[in-house]
Amino acid sequence: MATQNPTPIHQAVQDYYGNVAREAGPCCESSSESSSCCGSGGSTEKIQNELYPAELLAALPAEVANFTAGSGDPISLAKLTPGETVLDLGSGGGLDCFLAAKQVGISGHVIGVDMTAEMLARARSNQARLNAGNVEFRQGFLEALPVDDNSIDVIVSNCVINLSPDKPQVFREMFRTLKPGGRIAVSDMVANHPLPEEAGKEESWCNCTSGALTDEAYNHELTKAGFVDIHLEPNIALVMKAVESGRVRPAQNFTKEKMLEDLHQWEKCDRTMVVPHQITASKPA
Ligand SMILES: C[S@@+](CC[C@H](N)C(=O)[O-])C[C@H]1O[C@@H](n2cnc3c(N)ncnc32)[C@H](O)[C@@H]1O
Repeated sequence: MATQNPTPIHQAVQDYYGNVAREAGPCCESSSESSSCCGSGGSTEKIQNELYPAELLAALPAEVANFTAGSGDPISLAKLTPGETVLDLGSGGGLDCFLAAKQVGISGHVIGVDMTAEMLARARSNQARLNAGNVEFRQGFLEALPVDDNSIDVIVSNCVINLSPDKPQVFREMFRTLKPGGRIAVSDMVANHPLPEEAGKEESWCNCTSGALTDEAYNHELTKAGFVDIHLEPNIALVMKAVESGRVRPAQNFTKEKMLEDLHQWEKCDRTMVVPHQITASKPA
């Protein structure tokens, strides 16, 4: 296993997501409606997460289901089966791990890896609340995964790989930890044009924009790491829905209509756009 010394990008990303976890407040907060969201009274919060089908989230408490910094639904993409061992890269509050855990069942196992202490604390507190015995969270870097060689059936990840300063190393680590014949199901941000160096500012890197690879570069790096059957699919419908509902606002000097028009012809658009993608690939058997 490789070791990883945190770079300035890791530190900026850690600070950013540490704040995200802190600002969301404790995951088991008391409210006037119920003495505790962990108690039998439950909470009055509704599930509002539109990244996943409602039926997938229905079994989870709203506070767990709504806590996402993801860009899609890698769990539906992964088509998990009972007994599989799943690794979630950049597990955040643990939502994808808990969804995966339900699908792989007690004969399966889920490992979430994240470098940010506040996110791990949140995920572990959620795990205790859900009594999810087939899930564990490990602190570590994507570039030096604390996971054995050839031990994982499926790797999932939700809006994380773009944040790494060394994506080729992340792909090599994914390949190393997967069993022969294992697969990946990833949601990540992908750009239609290479992003200029000056786009690598801290804020836009941390909010999953300026670290994005192009479709071509993603494909190339996965191939170089040894992956086969690589597919990248833009999730334009998801962005359109977010623009139409006003949750995503058009960039400065752009109208909503212009943004929707550009999204329709995303790949041909001169303007650089970063769009969530669903990415699948396999390690040869
Ligand atoms: C955008 S959030 C996504 C969290 C989660 N996947 C979700 O869908 O809510 C990115 C997460 O990845 C973690 N992360 C980013 N880069 C990482 C790296 N190089 N190694 C380990 N964790 C990383 C961050 O700490 C953060 O929790």
